[in-house]
Formats: sequence, C-alpha cells, structure tokens
Amino acid sequence: MPIISFANPKGGAGKTTTALILATQLAENGASVTLIDGDPERWISQWGDLPGKPDTITIVGSVSEDSIVDQIEEASGKTQFVIVDLEGTASLMVANAIGMSDLVLIPIQGSSMDARGGAKTIRLIANQAKMARRAIPHCVVFTRTSAAVRSRALRNVQEQLTASGIETCKTAIVERAAYRDLLDYGGTLSDLRGAEVSNIEKAIDNAREFAGEVVARLKQEARP
Ligand SMILES: Nc1ncnc2c1ncn2[C@@H]1O[C@H](COP(=O)(O)OP(=O)(O)O)[C@@H](O)[C@H]1O
Ligand SMILES: [Mg+2]
Repeated sequence: MPIISFANPKGGAGKTTTALILATQLAENGASVTLIDGDPERWISQWGDLPGKPDTITIVGSVSEDSIVDQIEEASGKTQFVIVDLEGTASLMVANAIGMSDLVLIPIQGSSMDARGGAKTIRLIANQAKMARRAIPHCVVFTRTSAAVRSRALRNVQEQLTASGIETCKTAIVERAAYRDLLDYGGTLSDLRGAEVSNIEKAIDNAREFAGEVVARLKQEARP
C-alpha cells in the first residue's frame, strides 16, 4: 500500500508535525496507517507513547539505514498507508526511504520561505528516480503559513514554483496551536475538541483537505 515520505534536511521545516497531521487524519477517515519513525530524536515514537493513539496506527521505531527498506516493505503489506518521518539530514536512510516512496512530501515553512533544504531534497529525489528508472512523485508543502496571509499571495508563490518545474501541494498547512498540541498531548485533532484549543475546527478542516489532496495525488500517480 502507498508509501509517503516526509523529507527536508532542514530541521523545523514541519516534517514530523505534518506527518502526524496526515497519519491521524487518515486514521480518522477509517484507514490503517504505519508511521515509521526515521528520526533518532524519536518524536513520532514519543507521540505514540502518549495516550490517545488510535489502534489503527502502528508505530515502527528503531529504524536504521540498513533496516528501513525492509521495514517499509513489511509495513506496506500490512496497513493501507505507510508514512515515513525522516531525520533532518541528507543521509543514506533518507535516500533509501525516498527510493521506496510513492509520494515524497517536502515541507517548507511558508513564512520564512527557506527553500534551500527543499531544493536539496528535490535533487536527491531526481537522483533516486534515475537510479530506480522510475518517476518518484513529490511535491512541496507549505507549512506554518499565516492564517492571515491572503491565499492569493500563497497561490502566486505556488505558481512561480510550478513555472520553474517544482510541484507544490494546493493545500498549505496553517500555523495552528492545535498542531503543536498534537505532539505535546498525543491523540488526534478530534480529541482536542472541547479542550479549549483555539480554532480547532479550522485545524481539522485543514487536515481533512490536506489528507484529501494526498489521497487524490496517490490515486492519480498510482504505479501501473
Ligand atoms: N502547522 C504548524 N502549526 C504550528 N506549529 C507547527 C506547525 N508545524 C510545525 N510546527 C512547530 O514547529 C516546530 C518544528 O516542527 P517539526 O514538525 O518538528 O519539524 P521537523 O520535523 O521538520 O524538524 C515544532 O515545534 C512544531 O510544533
Ligand atoms: Mg522531525
């Protein structure tokens, strides 16, 4: 079943948070998901140790560059989605995960527009695609965008990137307290309902839209 990796050598780009938003939303939609924790900092594993993890989400930790290919393959035979959260370096483990992926998502902070890490990832994907003799679908996801930023401004940046041959996701992930709380308190976004988290419904809508776009991209780009 489809393998989705989150990659950007820049720390703080939003890989872990966006991977978790996607995994919990797919689980809310009724899917089974394996989350592979490819970061020695173990953020995903720590989230999994908190109460509230849906039973349909399996966490795989203790991942190394030697084992990740087999771990991804095994997981893809077991659950409907495999999501790989990668470390903030360009390592052999990252290259191996990208080589296995049906879709690579490259989070870039919309606020700082620090895209250098993203460009590095895109080159890595191009090399892996050449080696594997297949296209590796990928797109940039703007994260932590300001809720106040006019969507037209964001669309302009997306169009500029598209014009220079860089695919961007239509859905950006807005900066929301709820997304930070997800990692701090565990569980899913709907668990945060009624916990006095600001704009929780908007955070949930954003997560739904993002997961919807990811699923649509996977369908469109499904391997023959
Ligand atoms: N959409 C978001 N809204 C609010 N905070 C966010 C969002 N995305 C990331 N963050 C915060 O930014 C920091 C870095 O994000 P993280 O997902 O850990 O990045 P990475 O995994 O790429 O290093 C974390 O403190 C996280 O809580
Ligand atoms: Mg991370």
